[in-house]
Amino acid sequence: MRFDDRVAVVSGGANGIGWATVERLLDEGGRVAILDREPEAAAAKVTERTERDATTSDRAAVFECDVMDAASVDRAVSGALDRFGRIDVLAAVAGGDHFVDDELDEDHWNEIVSLNLHGPVRLIRACRQALITSRGAIVMVGSVNGVAAYGEPAYGSAKAGLTLLAKNLAVDLGPAGVRINVVAPGTVRTRVWEGQGGPDRLAPLYPLGRVGEPADIASAIAFLASDDASWITGVTLPVDGGSLAGPLVVMDHLLGSQE
Ligand SMILES: NC(=O)c1ccc[n+]([C@@H]2O[C@H](COP(=O)([O-])OP(=O)(O)OC[C@H]3O[C@@H](n4cnc5c(N)ncnc54)[C@H](O)[C@@H]3O)[C@@H](O)[C@H]2O)c1
Repeated sequence: MRFDDRVAVVSGGANGIGWATVERLLDEGGRVAILDREPEAAAAKVTERTERDATTSDRAAVFECDVMDAASVDRAVSGALDRFGRIDVLAAVAGGDHFVDDELDEDHWNEIVSLNLHGPVRLIRACRQALITSRGAIVMVGSVNGVAAYGEPAYGSAKAGLTLLAKNLAVDLGPAGVRINVVAPGTVRTRVWEGQGGPDRLAPLYPLGRVGEPADIASAIAFLASDDASWITGVTLPVDGGSLAGPLVVMDHLLGSQE
């Protein structure tokens, strides 16, 4: 129960990795403000969970939020503070990518950087004072795409930016007792893989022989957000089934599949 008496803000908490994080924090005693641009989906999951755990409805609250809009983020964070009175953890999970013909398209870059890099900045700015007051922790969700070239240059560059954002803010906020880290997932079984043959086709590329589940990422986020990681700040932790450790495994498989 590492999050007893603690309050977390989770962006992107309505689905996938974000919802798994919400569940993990609730399972460990926390109270959670779910910020998402799909508030109905989040509310439905909270209602469903309340049927299993009656305490959920008091400990989880949903706030509509678009992380690409600073005013929307400020409103949602204010709502979370009004409801719960403090913020101990910020999990900046909202993000994503989509296919475009021209990977260097101007509008695509503006959109992807705004969502994946500037979005976490907007959240941190809105939560900063509350996190300093609580000596809290920030965890941002990057990607293996932000560590090596897996394609998708706008997305990869934005996710890579989180690594230097974390390092800089680790130095700036460390003296105030605030920690900040990144988890960099490999392929995780969420809706983003729908219509792409399913994530399982990628399983053989992973040294551990499977793709990730949202709970695999949620447990790493919970670890970095908890006191178990109290001397860890400014790091990017791959949570990727060994993908980054074994690029030759990946290349071998790719070459083999072309034969
Ligand atoms: N699934 C993967 O394979 C994978 C791999 C590496 C990194 N990631 C990262 O993990 C995070 C979560 O991805 P997921 O796979 O769970 O996706 P998902 O689509 O299942 O969930 C993303 C959530 O973020 C919300 N969201 C998206 N844009 C938003 C915005 N502008 N404002 C507020 N909320 C917004 C969505 O409504 C959704 O609830 C993302 O940052 C993604 O880049 C995913």
